[in-house]
Amino acid sequence: MSPVSIPVIMDCDPGHDDAIALVLAHARPEIEIRGVCTTAGNQTIEKTTLNARKIMSFLGNDVPVARGCAKPLFRELITAASVHGESGLDGPALPEPQWPESNLSAYELMVKVLEKSDRPVTMVPTGALTNLALLLLTRPDLKAKIGRISLMGGAAVGGNWTPAAEFNILVDPEAAQIVFSSGLPITMSGLDVTHKAIVTAEDIESFRSIGKRTAVMVAELLDFFKKFHEEYFAGFGGSPLHDPCAVAWLAAPEIFISRKARVDVECAGTYTTGSTVVSFARGVSHGGAEGRIPPDEANVDVLFDVDREAFVALLRNALEVLD
Ligand code: BDR
Ligand code: CA
Repeated sequence: MSPVSIPVIMDCDPGHDDAIALVLAHARPEIEIRGVCTTAGNQTIEKTTLNARKIMSFLGNDVPVARGCAKPLFRELITAASVHGESGLDGPALPEPQWPESNLSAYELMVKVLEKSDRPVTMVPTGALTNLALLLLTRPDLKAKIGRISLMGGAAVGGNWTPAAEFNILVDPEAAQIVFSSGLPITMSGLDVTHKAIVTAEDIESFRSIGKRTAVMVAELLDFFKKFHEEYFAGFGGSPLHDPCAVAWLAAPEIFISRKARVDVECAGTYTTGSTVVSFARGVSHGGAEGRIPPDEANVDVLFDVDREAFVALLRNALEVLD
């Protein structure tokens, strides 16, 4: 293991792109997964937890996988079977997990990992922010142990589940606002960048042609994932790999472009619930124009662009080194 590796806690709702984010985090030497927490979102907590266990088991990584909250803080759960199927991870035939679920809850695992760590831990949420919000509310002392949050969610412009809201933020907007207003450093991989992190049909074939079992499994995940995007987002020319952006930024920040901004979450809109309201910090706004807020009120590094070829190469390299 690289001595400079970043300890991370993954907090996910696998989910095809969550699963690929786990694969990428497992493969990269800069990243050390200390725990996998699950959240309800793409499917129920029972299904996302089983899926996370299956993926970590497939990878031969026996890091604890701990079950998170079954529902958002205040709202009923929205799931995304239309994108991820009834299992939440339809497509490849994954073997049953070799290891049991952790006897800790996601919350307890986060506490344990943070308390034990002698280095700042990066939280990598790629689903609703329910678990992390609970942690920040109830154990503010542990903020000192969190180096950064690299999350997938939100958008400066638009949405994918409603015209104004991205799915992860829409599932639990109140939790998201608690996280965004926590004062911790945050990198946001929202739709602005993830809709540029596209894998094409040719990329999928190139992954499959690596021939190794993880590469073939990822190709099979993408075979299923692409059906939804071909039907509803044909103009993309492929599938956006949302969640792997939050991991890829940790491994290769130089392939992304970010801008500092103030981000808050609309929790009470008639048409805009779950939208992330992004105000640019002065001096780093579009075309150098002055934004509405002073830089010291910026709370998020918002990713806006990625070198798509480099992003796909990062993933391909990961698949080449794994069995
Ligand atoms: C997000 O929603 C989920 O369906 C994906 O896993 C990703 O985290 C994209 O909006
Ligand atoms: Ca997800």
